[in-house]
Amino acid sequence: MYDLAMLRYSLACITVAVLATSSASTPRPHPPTSADPYKLPGYPVFIKQCAPCHGEHGDGLGQGARFLTPAPRDFRRTQLKFFSTDNGVASGKDIYETIAAGIGGTSMLPFAQLGEATCWSLVDVVAAFRERGAREALEQTGLTGTELETAVAGKCNPSPASDLPPEPPATVDTASRGLILWREAGCVTCHGEAARGGEVQVAQRGGSTMSVRVPDLTTGVLRQVPTPFNLANRIRRGIGGTPMPATNLGGDDLWSLVHYVKTLIPEGAQAIADPVWGRLPAARLTGELPTSPDDPRFAEVPITWLPLAPFNAFDRSVSMIGVQPLASSTHIVMRVVVPDATRDVPSKTSDAAPDGIALRVTPVSKPPVLPVAGQMPVLDRAVTYTGAMPRVEDPVFIASGFENPEAVCKTVAPAARTGTSTYVQGTWRHVIAVRTEMSGPPNASQPLSVSLAVFNGSAKRGPLPTAFSAWRELVVSP
Ligand code: HEC
Ligand code: HEC
Repeated sequence: MYDLAMLRYSLACITVAVLATSSASTPRPHPPTSADPYKLPGYPVFIKQCAPCHGEHGDGLGQGARFLTPAPRDFRRTQLKFFSTDNGVASGKDIYETIAAGIGGTSMLPFAQLGEATCWSLVDVVAAFRERGAREALEQTGLTGTELETAVAGKCNPSPASDLPPEPPATVDTASRGLILWREAGCVTCHGEAARGGEVQVAQRGGSTMSVRVPDLTTGVLRQVPTPFNLANRIRRGIGGTPMPATNLGGDDLWSLVHYVKTLIPEGAQAIADPVWGRLPAARLTGELPTSPDDPRFAEVPITWLPLAPFNAFDRSVSMIGVQPLASSTHIVMRVVVPDATRDVPSKTSDAAPDGIALRVTPVSKPPVLPVAGQMPVLDRAVTYTGAMPRVEDPVFIASGFENPEAVCKTVAPAARTGTSTYVQGTWRHVIAVRTEMSGPPNASQPLSVSLAVFNGSAKRGPLPTAFSAWRELVVSP
């Protein structure tokens, strides 16, 4: 149904991902060590964009962290997952690429839009926290002087990367050889014959254990952009801090496995894993506010598909939504299309948590992806649930340790301003409206940042959203 739009979208995303990756090709010395992370030029951006999840001390304990699976990385105590070096220490370029391209299918969005210089300044902050954490841990073991310095360097200085063998052309033969190796090299023991994964494994991270799930590779949503280079690095070097092991396969075998893994990944699938920032075209709103999804004015706005980042990466039941926005100087009204296999509407006979959507609007440019209380002036926001709010005594509040649901979840917009919802054939169509105060409709020189979140009752998170979009700049075309 949405194929063409999806395809275009995929291409746009892949372009962004490739740009993000190629702009990092300029060689740069590995991040300076012994720097004070709090005094680095990148730290103010880190506080705004990264600390809500990674914490102001880089320990992974940001305000939003407890709602996220997997947890945001603790830079101080945990080996990074993605590296291309021989000693397993992520280089500046490795970290840069993660920041720019994000970690697919998780809440770690791509940050390429912050610009190359800013991303590099964030690399320095991450590396400085890594060094601090390693130093403090080693000091506690009693090491001092040169011994300490050598040990710190061993944990924090990336070694050069030995070149990967050159990639032969991908053919049916190389891929079939890869299938044989998939069994012989032991991939099958964790990933399964059909690569559907699912097994939960226990990993040792930062002194504590955590569970890591073997991914279903056939969904095509990989953590790293699945370029041949990245896949070869993962298969050769493993994934830091997880059970995914390194291998010592020779060149042809390594590439055969890469070619086989490539055949598992559906074309364009990665696009739904990476919410990217960008423009959101809207049409001009005149007359009464539309309240029904059948209002004919929505049909005139092209639908924009927004991939969503999940709060829990293992529940991607709603991974993208389509939006059709109308805007005036006083309001933004959207029709939001949510493909959702389950219709969850609380009623007298069912105390299911409701499906729903939330919309936030702010004049701030490039707001933090997960704003924390008091950090950002939200111009307005609205929440629409398909039914009443879950009770405050809902077990989910207690289970999530959520102290003040009323303050966070209650809709700010009066009911009159939120529209209605219909559910037909596995798809919700909601209407949601927020009030704005602008001198004219948002335009290229005065855009409004908007972001959406989705609630999915069957995810059993009560009134907490299950996924969110990146910020988009809403612009009414002249
Ligand atoms: C909404 C939450 C969120 C925000 C905001 C966020 N991250 Fe992350 N980040 C994560 C999560 C979750 C992971 C772990 C994903 C995984 O383990 O697969 C992660 C992992 C990382 C990693 C580890 C990569 C590796 O190889 O292990 C780096 C580096 C990183 N983030 C940097 C940043 C920087 C820099 C910023 C700010 C520009 C940022 N993150 C903002 C959630 C976030
Ligand atoms: C001991 C279990 C184990 C074995 C053996 C194993 N893997 Fe994995 N693999 C994992 C886990 C766990 C992850 C997910 C790590 C994460 O994202 O936290 C993973 C992730 C992956 C990914 C996804 C990378 C990404 O960017 O999302 C690929 C591709 C992969 N494995 C390929 C292979 C291949 C090829 C082999 C055989 C050479 C193999 N694995 C052997 C456990 C294993």
